[in-house]
Amino acid sequence: MKKRALLLKTGRSCGFLRARPWLVFVGLAAVWVWAGLLGGCYDSPYQQGRDAYFDYCANCHMENGTGLEQLIPPLRGADYVRDSVHRLPCIIRHGMTGKIVVNGVEYEGEMPGVKELTDFEITNLINYINTAWGNDFPTVTYDMVKKELEKCP
Ligand code: HEC
Repeated sequence: MKKRALLLKTGRSCGFLRARPWLVFVGLAAVWVWAGLLGGCYDSPYQQGRDAYFDYCANCHMENGTGLEQLIPPLRGADYVRDSVHRLPCIIRHGMTGKIVVNGVEYEGEMPGVKELTDFEITNLINYINTAWGNDFPTVTYDMVKKELEKCP
């Protein structure tokens, strides 16, 4: 008797879905939206800055910011980066040439600018560099970066 009642019950609940097949799609869509929202949480500003670094900078300045001998100055532990945080937005967008001294070593090379990065991406990129590899340099805000970019020579 009990078994029969159970069968009847499950039979009825399947009928509910059979009559409304679109409910399955609504359920799947809800899961999809939820997963998308959760995924968004992991795409943090730090992660965006890191992606930009690996896409546009790591091939010269190396994955861990060490630079390359006398050719490419370092970013990791670099006194130049620490002391010129306000100059980084223009360096990133427009590049730089001429003599500079980083950690006591003289460099005279040419760095191409990266026009593809938005003000927002440059902010995340600078904050990645200034906190990666043990760097403990000041971080920047979007407003600071935007103002510096308007003043680039
Ligand atoms: C084609 C190689 C190349 C790429 C790509 C490149 N740089 Fe440079 N970068 C250089 C060179 C060479 C210099 C030194 C320029 C000079 O001597 O005036 C430099 C200098 C710098 C400096 C100032 C000096 C220092 O080391 O503190 C910073 C900051 C910097 N680059 C950041 C970046 C960032 C951020 C990116 C990615 C958006 C990037 N660079 C991409 C070659 C490169």
